[in-house]
Amino acid sequence: MAKTVKAEIEGLRAELRRHLHLYHVLDSPEISDVEYDELYRRLEKLEADRPDLITTDSPTQRVGDTPSSAFEPVTHRQPLFSLDNADSLEALEAWERRVVRGLEGEASGYMCELKIDGLAVSLTYEGGQLVLGATRGSGTVGEDITHNVRTIEAIPLVLLGKPPSLMEVRGEIYMPLTAFEELNKRQTESGGQSFVNPRNAAAGSVRQKDPAITATRRLAIWCYQVGHLEGGPPPPSQSETLDWLQELGLPVNPASERVDSRDGLEEYVQRALKDRHKHNYQTDGVVVKVDALAEQDVLGFTARSPRWAVAFKFPAEERTTLLKEIRINIGRTGAATPFAVLEPVFVGGATVTLATLHNEGELHRKDIRPGDVVTVRRAGDVIPEVVGPVLSARQGKKLRKWHMPKKCPFCGNPIVTEEGEARAKCTGGFECPSRLREYLFHFASRGGMDIEGLGYQTVDLLMKNDIIADPADIFTLGSEDLLTFEGWGEVSVNNLLAEIELAKDRPVARLLTALGLPLVGPTVAKSLTRRFWSIDLLMAASAQDLAAIDGIGPEIVSAVQAWASDPETIALVEKLRAAGVRLEDPEPESGIDESLAGVTLVITGTLERFSREKAKAAAENKGARVTGSVSKKTTALVAGANAGTKLAKATDLGVPVLDEAGFETLLAQGAEALTE
Ligand code: IVH
Repeated sequence: MAKTVKAEIEGLRAELRRHLHLYHVLDSPEISDVEYDELYRRLEKLEADRPDLITTDSPTQRVGDTPSSAFEPVTHRQPLFSLDNADSLEALEAWERRVVRGLEGEASGYMCELKIDGLAVSLTYEGGQLVLGATRGSGTVGEDITHNVRTIEAIPLVLLGKPPSLMEVRGEIYMPLTAFEELNKRQTESGGQSFVNPRNAAAGSVRQKDPAITATRRLAIWCYQVGHLEGGPPPPSQSETLDWLQELGLPVNPASERVDSRDGLEEYVQRALKDRHKHNYQTDGVVVKVDALAEQDVLGFTARSPRWAVAFKFPAEERTTLLKEIRINIGRTGAATPFAVLEPVFVGGATVTLATLHNEGELHRKDIRPGDVVTVRRAGDVIPEVVGPVLSARQGKKLRKWHMPKKCPFCGNPIVTEEGEARAKCTGGFECPSRLREYLFHFASRGGMDIEGLGYQTVDLLMKNDIIADPADIFTLGSEDLLTFEGWGEVSVNNLLAEIELAKDRPVARLLTALGLPLVGPTVAKSLTRRFWSIDLLMAASAQDLAAIDGIGPEIVSAVQAWASDPETIALVEKLRAAGVRLEDPEPESGIDESLAGVTLVITGTLERFSREKAKAAAENKGARVTGSVSKKTTALVAGANAGTKLAKATDLGVPVLDEAGFETLLAQGAEALTE
């Protein structure tokens, strides 16, 4: 009896997998969604009776994980490269000429693929089973999103045919346009925030902490590349790779085409451009790859990207619409920026209702007036922009020029433009609710104190109820402040308070970045705090001592000193201190170690005794600069196992290469070790 249940379960699983494949990969379903659901429910029921027979690769086991609190870093076995862009047909031709030069002859063929506007992921299959899904991240290190990736039906949990023993595939996760529209409809109905475009929605969906949410987002994937591979040679060309991926049950975009000449290339690009809105997903260009692997190997890589591939970017789209009104926004530094309120218009893949106008000077130069019909441009991710007025449409209308208001519409304080500055500023300081809102958002953001859960919505709520009026107030929040709000339960309140507690103990460089002084981003903040490891020391530092720090110029020195002497700063720092926020790093034991000052390192490959982050921190703690790409200015390349293109580049440029032992000697002996 038991045997028959087991057999039925296995039969159902195979059946369900076959239908998923027919639907997502072959695009030719044999049964309706309702029939699919019936089979699925039957399997669910059998498995509920016999939990001992449940396996992780069962179609029912896609969602079932408990929410995770963080995404673990994953070092990719081979880096995920990005592509060079060609933004015109001329640039594409120039690329093709470089290929011909590199190969000393024509390429035997090119693979043309649509450039899918989603997010790159890496999927690892071991023995045909999906074991890891990771974001691209920096290209070298991504985040483990396995639990979320497993919920995407288009991604097989088990490969078909004869999968290799180990294989890492890359592809683009995207949200189909229909799913995007439905999601936004649901979000709006439930009072949530809607997403600006399908790419953001897809990115937000794979980074959900709860896989059950990802599962409701109906994401899909097109696979386009094999990374690391064990247990068999890779197919000899990109076109055969795509065929193979498809045979293994992975979705491959059907619009991919092999062409064998430059004319074929241009024809494909033109067609893709014409058809760009015919798909149920967004494309932002065409990726062209030299088809034969042997030819790809001859061409190789630059420091950043392969020479054998290029991304032809579709041109920005433009549409005209009515400029209803010009308003201003006060940013976190107090800068007043005009923006356009538009009659909603669909352009470049998103509905645009607001567009930046930069500053008053630019507005007058372009002669843009409220009431004009204007041209709006939007390309990919770029913030929509008003190109200019359609002057012919202005005839007969009396439109007045726009001027920066004299008073801030948010706080009523004067708006002034200082001598020699392009930007007008609100003089209200933190009294200005618009400035405070942007400031608090920046303070709590990932680049700042990284307080998860404290985004615009929560900031707005806390400001509206007069609970916070400056960043220090965040640290004295109590559960009684939050529990009265609608939708806030014990769990969400405790989560936020725990995040805030953690943030109290961030390194001083983070606090400094969060405080947002002009010109002080994360890198400058690190340089400053290596020399002055507490806020008090930094505030008391002389101009001379500040200027002596590597990489700190006179503008930064003045910005730091102006900030340090501002009464608002002094009051804020005291308030942060009283709230228990850490204002100093541990003092370096024997003064500051600058034994690697002036040394620029690039670290690549896998080291045995250091993670990439640890190696970087060890070198930076001694005053070295660690950068991402090898150039003539690089002092040395630290190369671990499986170093790739950076090693080749360093050898090319005659940059010294250190192995792990050499790196340890460098850390121990300082820069002199390099001259021995
Ligand atoms: S191939 C070395 N093919 O575009 C080759 N990329 O800048 C690496 N993308 O990060 C990528 N569609 O996220 C490739 N058909 C396609 C693609 C594609 C979209 C994305 C991918 C990559 C970026 C390249």
